[in-house]
Formats: sequence, C-alpha cells, structure tokens
Amino acid sequence: MITTGDIAQVRAIRWADPSLSWGLVPTMGYLHDGHLSLVRQARAENDRVAVTIFVNPTQFAPTEDLSTYPRDLERDLALLAAGGVDLVFTPDNTTMYPPGFQTKVTVEQVSRPLEGLSRPAHFQGVTTVVAKLFNIVQPTRAYFGQKDAQQTVVIRRLAADLNFNLEIIVGPTIREADGLAMSSRNVRLSPEQRAVATVLYRALHTAVSALRAGEHDSETLRALMRDTVAAEPLARLDYVSVAHLHTLAELDRVESGALFSLAVFFGNVRLIDNIVVEAA
Ligand code: PAJ
Repeated sequence: MITTGDIAQVRAIRWADPSLSWGLVPTMGYLHDGHLSLVRQARAENDRVAVTIFVNPTQFAPTEDLSTYPRDLERDLALLAAGGVDLVFTPDNTTMYPPGFQTKVTVEQVSRPLEGLSRPAHFQGVTTVVAKLFNIVQPTRAYFGQKDAQQTVVIRRLAADLNFNLEIIVGPTIREADGLAMSSRNVRLSPEQRAVATVLYRALHTAVSALRAGEHDSETLRALMRDTVAAEPLARLDYVSVAHLHTLAELDRVESGALFSLAVFFGNVRLIDNIVVEAA
C-alpha cells in the first residue's frame, strides 16, 4: 500500500497500467466498519482500490466541529493495509486548496433541503472536494454510503451533470448491534448520550412500521418521529423528513417510495440517519 499526499504521484500510480480498473472510497478518516464495508465492496469490484483521507474544511461551517473532528491516521492506515487497499491519498489543506483557489462546484436543488437547510454551505464544500478527488484519482467506480443519503443524491447529480467518466456505487448503512448507524462522530458522545443515541433508528422504525400498518399521511409519520425523539431528554431534534427519493422534496402522502430521515443533537454532537422505503 502506498500512502501519499502528492497529486502527481497519485496520477502516476493510477495510470501506470491503464487497463486496470480502480475503485475510489473518499473519506474523512477515523475509519469504522461503514467505511471499511465500502472498501470491501470496492476491493471486490475493481483491480485496484484507492482511499482518500481528507478532513475537508470547506464542508464545515465556522460553528461546526472541524477542530474536534476525530483523527487517527496511523490506525486508519493499518486498517486500510489490512483491507488490501493499494493507494491512500492523504493531502494537506494547501495541496487541495492552494493560495489563489477560487472555484466552487454547486449542485443546486437537491443540495437545498434537509442537511442543506441546517448546513447551508455544506454540500458546496462536499461537491467541490469530491469533484477534485474524482479528477485527481479518475477512478472507474466511486463508493459512497447510504448513511449520508442526501450526499449520495447530490453526488449522483454532480457526476451526471459534469459528465464524470465513472460509476457511482452506493453501499448500505452499517450499524452497531443496537441499531446506531456507525459514524466517526459517535466517539464524541458521552456514555449517557451513546446509550440513547439509538433514538434515531427507533424513530425511523416507528414511522416505517406505521407506514407498513397503513398510515400514508407524511405529517402523521413525521409526528411519530418527532415524538420518539422528544421522549429522550438528552436528544434535541434538528429535523425530521419524509421526502421523495430523488427530488428530496417533502411528501404530503407516501404513495410509493420515500426517504425517511432525521438529524438529532446530543449536546453539540449532531447525528443523522435514514431509511429508504422502496414501496409504500
Ligand atoms: P465520511 O463521513 O468519512 O464518510 C465517508 C464515506 O463513508 C461516505 O460515503 C459515507 O456515507 C460512508 N459512511 C459513513 N458512515 C457509514 C455507515 N455507517 N455505513 C455505510 N457507509 C458509511 O462523507 C464524507 O466523509 C465526506 O463528505 C466526503 C464524501 C469524504 C467528502 O469530504
């Protein structure tokens, strides 16, 4: 496994043999089994696998947790080496955003609702850095997790609209045994917060069960999620949503597929989760 922060070296390795397919897994590090499941899928579907580790400052607002975002490069590299990764790109901020940098990539509509309302500049930071990573690595396939549902919709749009010559693959959400979606941010929860953080998954399940039992009114389904979160004193709701799978617009009624999602604060730790329902 080669680890480098140098763009020219990444390109040289990637194009040493143009006949080989490459899978790319972009990450911000502090890896867990959610990331590693994407690495395994990339390993199975490509000749070579590249992983990027870059805590991208442009996707964090000044009020957010950039400075406290967990990092452990040594541990990450050991996990990736054990996972059969060929290339790890670990650029520094100046490599990605040199002096004079002034280009931003914006995906319009699908970046606006949900996470976009709570984190207005977030997806512009994500799409700008992901476009750069696509251009640097030029992978055959790029892997993203369903855990960040809106991010997958935004990135599919980005790849289609800018004609990136690659395939976007979305892997399932990997969860802890009690249902909590794995996230690098989970380590920032206190033991008490960690114990009740399952409320996101419980809220989603309550709503999906009600849908399965015949409740198609979205506002009733949202209210069920809100009530579940409100019952946990350590949890503070940011948003709940029952939205169209592709446009991400809020639905009045769930008649076919829907994305159930929510964001919840525990102190200053913000967690998100979602469940996709393919048919009502
Ligand atoms: P990060 O949060 O490190 O996540 C990297 C990838 O792992 C994303 O595609 C994310 O959806 C996926 N992932 C995280 N937790 C997961 C889980 N529990 N199950 C399955 N997949 C999971 O997402 C980012 O970084 C950044 O926005 C990035 C795309 C790297 C751009 O900076």
